[in-house]
Amino acid sequence: MTIPTPDVLTSFADISTDDLVVVGVRKSSDGPQLVAQDLPTPVAESLTASLSAIGAEGEKDSTWRVPSPEGLGAKGVLLVGLGEDEPDADVLRSAAGFAAQSVTSPQRLVFALPASEAGGVEAVLEGALLGSYRTKKITAKVTATTPLIAIIGTLSPEDLSRVVTTCEAVFLVRDLVTTPPNLLNPVSFVAEIEKLVANTDLSVEVLDEKQLEKQGYGGITAVGKGSINPPRLMILRYQPTNPSRHVALVGKGITFDSGGLSLKPPTAMVGMKYDMTGAAVMAATTIAAAQLKSPATITTYLCLAENMPSGSASRPNDVITIKGGKTVEILNTDAEGRLVMADGLQAASALKPDLIVDIATLTGAARIALGERYAGLMGTDSAVEQVQHAAKRVGELVWHMPLPPELRTILNSDVADIANVKPGEVLGGMLSAGQFLKDFVGTQDSGELIPWAHLDIAGPAANSSGAYGFTPKGPTGALARTLIALLMS
Ligand code: BES
Ligand code: MN
Ligand code: ZN
Repeated sequence: MTIPTPDVLTSFADISTDDLVVVGVRKSSDGPQLVAQDLPTPVAESLTASLSAIGAEGEKDSTWRVPSPEGLGAKGVLLVGLGEDEPDADVLRSAAGFAAQSVTSPQRLVFALPASEAGGVEAVLEGALLGSYRTKKITAKVTATTPLIAIIGTLSPEDLSRVVTTCEAVFLVRDLVTTPPNLLNPVSFVAEIEKLVANTDLSVEVLDEKQLEKQGYGGITAVGKGSINPPRLMILRYQPTNPSRHVALVGKGITFDSGGLSLKPPTAMVGMKYDMTGAAVMAATTIAAAQLKSPATITTYLCLAENMPSGSASRPNDVITIKGGKTVEILNTDAEGRLVMADGLQAASALKPDLIVDIATLTGAARIALGERYAGLMGTDSAVEQVQHAAKRVGELVWHMPLPPELRTILNSDVADIANVKPGEVLGGMLSAGQFLKDFVGTQDSGELIPWAHLDIAGPAANSSGAYGFTPKGPTGALARTLIALLMS
């Protein structure tokens, strides 16, 4: 989805009488403080005087709308709470996002939040754009329009276009994940991405179900064969002239996860359209990185299948052969993500890249352990550090989890190289899934594992409670910004 280019205004002289001006209110023990950039002094004084009268204490995720004070020449002012903490880039990004999420009318929002510190203008603009997203409802009625965004400050055209491209990637993830599973299956997912890739420098390869089987992609084949919608492997390639390094990305793209023959109970099945979020994040990230001319070579594997029960579905006790030759005994067809990811990791490993990052809504256990805001991060030390560093820069939440060896032992199979689960085992489910994936990460020429990071986003892929900061209810697009930052570094 394309975002209209935001206006970067140099001063309040450039605003119009239809605009809503957004300023901050910081909570403090001395009462609420107005936090704004370059406001004419009488305007600031008049707003400050009104804060206690309207009960604007400055809590996070709250807004108050007031009439435009004399001398401002706007339609009105939207006050947004910043909370008590120092208003750094993360605080400003969230507050700008919440302000943009809270408006229902289509007028332009002019952000006058202070943005003097390094990266402040970008953070405010990014938050404002992320918060301007509106979920597309499937309805005959005309749905909400996205507010236009303007910001007061200075920003180079390159920084502006980087912020817009990054936010477009997040919007793309949200749109794809929102699309219901009767309208988005592996074949139509590929078609959507093909449209977007057409005007980029990316090259595309798509393997259909026959090619997948013939070329040994036993995981994707086994998961996809229970559905009338056949599986696909979509490979995107970006090749700059003097690459700094080669990064391979792998995303889980289960367009619907019924559990297969190990069928999920009804309530657990609701929401399983979200199970393609990993592939959506990797597709959007790759497209954005290509538009931004990433210094790294990128090879992206989107592992797409629909996990359904039928007469042709995989059974518990089936033994399958993953790309590259390792065998897996399927003991639970609902642990399907690791099967498709194993194929993707093996294909990526064969290229001997400098770094592999995979992302998947892999385990309910990740949600139990970390809740809905933190992604579980596992892998080799250097790769984990790189992801942590990128996440910190863009203000996303990841948490480093261990890969305990005893959780690999429980996956030993009597008849195959590994089992996909230990039936009945409830301990450390996010970590044993990580251990499973690790078996399919290849080695460098030195014999050491290829630097590899695994992100379990079963929590942060979607927000089931109310909107907060720049995050809407529903699909979030989380981790796309982190991965774009990682590729651009
Ligand atoms: N897609 C699910 C994981 C999931 C669960 C994501 C809830 C988001 C919300 C995955 O394929 C799955 O079913 N995992 C099983 C693994 C189990 C069978 C070992 C799970 O978490 O229950
Ligand atoms: Mn499953
Ligand atoms: Zn799944």
